[in-house]
Amino acid sequence: QDDLVVLGIETSCDDTAAAVVRGNGEILSQVVSSQADLLAQYGGVAPKMAEEAHLQVIDQVVQEALDKAKLTERNLSAIAVTIGPGLGLCLRVGVRKARKIAGSFNLPIIGVHHMEAHALVARLNERELQFPFMALLISGGHNLLILARDLGQYIQLGTTIDDAIGEAYDKTAKWLGLDLRRSGGPAIEELAREGDAKSIKFSTPMKQHKDCNFSYAGLKTQVRLAIESKNINATIPISSANSEDRRTRADIAASFQRVAVLHLEERCERAIEWALKIEPSVKYLVVSGGVASNQYVRARLDQVVQRNSLRLVCPPPSLCTDNGVMVAWTGIENFRMGRFDPPPPADEPEDIV
Ligand code: KG4
Ligand code: ZN
Repeated sequence: QDDLVVLGIETSCDDTAAAVVRGNGEILSQVVSSQADLLAQYGGVAPKMAEEAHLQVIDQVVQEALDKAKLTERNLSAIAVTIGPGLGLCLRVGVRKARKIAGSFNLPIIGVHHMEAHALVARLNERELQFPFMALLISGGHNLLILARDLGQYIQLGTTIDDAIGEAYDKTAKWLGLDLRRSGGPAIEELAREGDAKSIKFSTPMKQHKDCNFSYAGLKTQVRLAIESKNINATIPISSANSEDRRTRADIAASFQRVAVLHLEERCERAIEWALKIEPSVKYLVVSGGVASNQYVRARLDQVVQRNSLRLVCPPPSLCTDNGVMVAWTGIENFRMGRFDPPPPADEPEDIV
């Protein structure tokens, strides 16, 4: 079934994305339209506004994905679309679009779980990555440690009890006056390179909890208090800060990043121990989701994995942040197992979804 051709549509949060992927893993096209400018202007995602932004570009993004793949809807085998988790209003834009095309061209639909897609996309590049494997999924909205035993069979080893790590990166970036036209994570990663990661003593979250759960709300508060005590004025953008001020901001960024990632390291260490008890044949830890595009995160987790004689698999950055390829690929994996819905009626009213 290498000749399957699946269109993937992703609109769960602030990116409108579409891609066409072949059953053999070949990426025929990939298009992402980001709402970063909107986010910078308003300082966060407002569901109604995000829905509007998806509506404005969805037709164009899908058309571009088909054009770049030099295909039309008639060449597709199926359509995959993210059905959750995410903002309901936003998800609906993608689902309506998918059902409309599927109805018109008599194509089966595969509903995709956003986090499953973040994990499974690792199998697109790494053909040796077989079940069972472990995955650490780190993004703006989620922190998950799972043991993937088989397609659709996932054991949750840990999750966040409050905020996800990406949220902590984004708030830290905002409070440090970093340029938010790009997302906060990359801005912190870059600034942290100039700073001393040991200069500020933030405490590692959940030390007393001997489990695999995460918490980033307390670290966020520690960072906010540190920023206040150093009198950093976030209304002065970092580009206009004097060298001493810049240095202080870099120290905070580096110290924050060190502890934020240390928390991941500790939880992964324990999760590997747990997972090996359940599935002794586990050989891989997949790290995916937006924060997995961070080089420091990758390097630190690589150490953990090597200490435990496992292998780290990180998709390339463009497949770590939200994208249509991961949705199309997860569609392909499910389609092969016969997990899909029949085409919707061609005249289905739009407001049914
Ligand atoms: O997976 P994703 O694109 O969307 C969600 O499903 O949430 O993840 C977005 C998150 C944001 O919080 C962003 O700041 C973070 O991933 N991120 C990074 C980096 N690139 C993106 N965090 C740290 N370092 C990066 N290089
Ligand atoms: Zn995501």
